[in-house]
Amino acid sequence: MSDDDVQLEARLEEQEVFEPPESFVEQANVNDEAIYEEFDENWPDAWERAAELLDWEEEWDQVLDDSDAPFYEWFVDGELNASANCLDRHLADRGDEAAIEWIGELGEKRTYTYDDLHREVNEFAAALRDLGVEEDDVVTMYMPMIPELPIAMLACARIGAPHSVVFAGFSADALATRMESADSEFLVTCDGYYRRGDPLEHKGKADEGLDDVGHDVETIVVDRLDDDYDHPMKAGEHDYDELVAEYAGAEVDPVTRDAEDMLFLMYTSGTTGQPKGVKHTTGGYLSYAAWTSQSVLDIKPDDTYWCSADIGWITGHSYIVYGPLALGTTTVMYEGTPDYPDKDRLWQIVEDYDVTQLYTAPTAIRAFMKWGKEYPEQHDLSSLRLLGTVGEPINPRAWKWYYKHIGREECPVVDTWWQTETGGMMLTTLPGVGDMKPGSAGPPLPGISADIVDVGGDPVEAGRAGYLVVNKPWPGMLRTLYKNDERFIDEYWDEYSNPDRDEWVYFPEDGAKIDDDGYITVLGRVDDVLNVSGHRLGTMEIESAIVGVEGVAEAAVVGGNHEIKGEAVYAYVITEDGYDETEELRDRIIEGVEDAIGPIARPEQVIFTPELPKTRSGKIMRRLLEDIANGDELGNTSTLRNPDVVEDIEAKVRGD
Ligand code: WTA
Repeated sequence: MSDDDVQLEARLEEQEVFEPPESFVEQANVNDEAIYEEFDENWPDAWERAAELLDWEEEWDQVLDDSDAPFYEWFVDGELNASANCLDRHLADRGDEAAIEWIGELGEKRTYTYDDLHREVNEFAAALRDLGVEEDDVVTMYMPMIPELPIAMLACARIGAPHSVVFAGFSADALATRMESADSEFLVTCDGYYRRGDPLEHKGKADEGLDDVGHDVETIVVDRLDDDYDHPMKAGEHDYDELVAEYAGAEVDPVTRDAEDMLFLMYTSGTTGQPKGVKHTTGGYLSYAAWTSQSVLDIKPDDTYWCSADIGWITGHSYIVYGPLALGTTTVMYEGTPDYPDKDRLWQIVEDYDVTQLYTAPTAIRAFMKWGKEYPEQHDLSSLRLLGTVGEPINPRAWKWYYKHIGREECPVVDTWWQTETGGMMLTTLPGVGDMKPGSAGPPLPGISADIVDVGGDPVEAGRAGYLVVNKPWPGMLRTLYKNDERFIDEYWDEYSNPDRDEWVYFPEDGAKIDDDGYITVLGRVDDVLNVSGHRLGTMEIESAIVGVEGVAEAAVVGGNHEIKGEAVYAYVITEDGYDETEELRDRIIEGVEDAIGPIARPEQVIFTPELPKTRSGKIMRRLLEDIANGDELGNTSTLRNPDVVEDIEAKVRGD
């Protein structure tokens, strides 16, 4: 390193507050701090600002109806269609402009202008309708990052059929559970996709899942692999390209949807083994996705914006598809991995497309750091104006590396905290307004009210850890868990609501602390949910997969620290009598987890143990298992029923 570099590193290391760059502020969509006050003084009506970003067929009568809290309703009696908002209204001005820039794993490029996208969405919507999809039928999608995925989503939105996208990396079992739970009779999937240049077959997994679905399913298959994989079409299956060709030129009027009508379902992990079907609505969700895309990601129609998430997760729904397209910008979609063919792939794409905003996850940033700055340095990244991160806490070192080596110290970094349930960002700085503090997401967005409280629901002092709560409803919030209002209340609203305050408080299940400036640092989940490479996984789901393996008596799963993934899955397993602790059993356990959930949940370590550390009342001491996984100092073990087991387990994890 040169002397200049050393000095710069030292300065960065010490700096704790970063002002937004002047050049950014000048052009920012939102650059007046008065916005916070406007929302405070005029709440909830100030939220009309978000709804006004959309075209409504019928304007709302009331901004918020809280008469049946916590079943809040937003933009009551308003009517609109999400696909018309993402497509039709842009055609006159931006029909020839790129809506989606898609880059395939093999380096193929496809550009869909707004005209193209509108055309294909209409054709596919017409096909879906003729296949029998009616308004409010849930259509499942089980596809990787190919353009047909957002096309299918928008086609569903057009005809008022909610979609339920299942991440392509999930297993056949996971697909079946979600289709059963949603009573979904339609599936859009594909034959396969490419990973590291090789074809990866996907259709077999979909078939296997369908075998476990107890009702008939009409399936549409996108041919992504061409001749690399020939699969015969079975009864009840349709080829995507043939359907679209058959309906060439068809137009489907966008179905008028009530603001509160479901736009989509998204399954996510919770404390129990059963995934939760989070319900998002047409008016509130779309307004919120558009508003946060505009105010936080600073999206303008002329931008080429890139969110590197997968559409199979909420980040891709809100910030690859709905938010950016509602604003009429160009959204980049990349099928592949960041290190194929080489570790500069992302930077090559930024350079090739003059990407203006990059929104990615801390796990990716940690990998970039490890690979080294020489990869970004090979490329011209000067088109970048803003950087964002999401999905897990980002440590200050990674933040600063991102800021310096990707953002040239000229781009604000927005660390955005939110969840599948919140629909969009909740805590973050406004990039044209607030100072940034690496490691801290920032204050709640305008109109969002959050606190850090103790178990009794009372705010804790600045600097102390507590539970993050959201005190007021917001338009992008989930409305319920699909067909399970009771679980919705139990999971999110009951436990920590403060009865004295006579209001409902939303509990996101995250621990956090707040500083004197009102900046919130999110510390991580307080329930049994892991965050592996930004992917949300329930320990209960993994445990039940392991216990389902022949020869396993009991299992406890915890998260251990991992340099790149953030958290990694540690599985402590007790074998059944008569079964030995063998490599063969270990392999079957890993396979069992991959079959039940997917490779993302694969245990980093499987540790056989004769017993699990339990309290006298028989509860597994997970905290202790976490400390062991991390090689941390163990706290008091005297309250254990079986303190002796701890040393044994420690020795095994260390590999003694
Ligand atoms: C975590 C992803 C710290 C958090 C959008 C949350 C974060 C869970 C951040 C939701 C962040 C997300 N800082 N933690 N900026 N963003 N999280 O539903 O624990 O997949 O509850 O939504 O990710 O994960 P989900």
